Amino acid sequence: MRNFFLGIVVTLAVLAGGAYSYLRMGFLDLRADLHPSAFEKHQAMSFMDACTDRHAPDQKNPIQPTETNLLDGMKLYRDHCAMCHGAPDHPEKKFGHPFYPPAPQFMVMEDMPDMPENQNFYIIRHGVRWTGMPAWRNTLNDGEIWKLVTFLGHMDKLPPSVEEEWKKSLPSDAKASTKRDTLRGYPHLRAAASPSDLQTGGIHE
Ligand code: HEC
Repeated sequence: MRNFFLGIVVTLAVLAGGAYSYLRMGFLDLRADLHPSAFEKHQAMSFMDACTDRHAPDQKNPIQPTETNLLDGMKLYRDHCAMCHGAPDHPEKKFGHPFYPPAPQFMVMEDMPDMPENQNFYIIRHGVRWTGMPAWRNTLNDGEIWKLVTFLGHMDKLPPSVEEEWKKSLPSDAKASTKRDTLRGYPHLRAAASPSDLQTGGIHE
């Protein structure tokens, strides 16, 4: 029995020593322009889900999705978030890609934030360690963060007046960078990107 435990301790020490040497000898590639493997992505997402499930307080969103609140949320998003998470003029923001892990692109259907509102609030307020997602609690107050959460939850079903403003983030010279496939939830924007604009192709993968 004693040897069994000794075996476990030695194995753990060898593994820890190996991991330390791997890092100290510079084998871990720390570039941000790599793409996480499917395995790493899957694992990281499940850790992240478990963390927000455990830590995000069970709060109710105090903000009603009125036109005024959605408009405020949209403006906050445009000013603080669009550069990483995308906007109608740039559905796939360049700035989003230089991160490891990449910033999810909210204009792309499968990347839209689908977590419960209290979890989105928690993530926006506190940020995500080891990623490019900043903690916004010192920049935005809780009311503003809830407005952002409300906007994120209604991005693909905005009332016409707010949608009109949102579309204005599509300056005419930016139409060329609008890629039809990425605008599944945004038929009006898809229509705005004419085939000739698309051929000039503003997006370079
Ligand atoms: C500097 C770039 C950057 C900015 C600015 C930024 N984010 Fe992020 N955000 C990220 C990255 C990178 C992630 C991915 C984190 C991860 O993979 O766990 C992320 C993740 C998120 C998530 C979780 C999405 C999901 O489905 O897992 C939400 C919600 C979010 N951001 C909202 C916002 C909001 C709202 C703002 C503006 C107030 C904002 N972000 C500003 C980089 C950014």
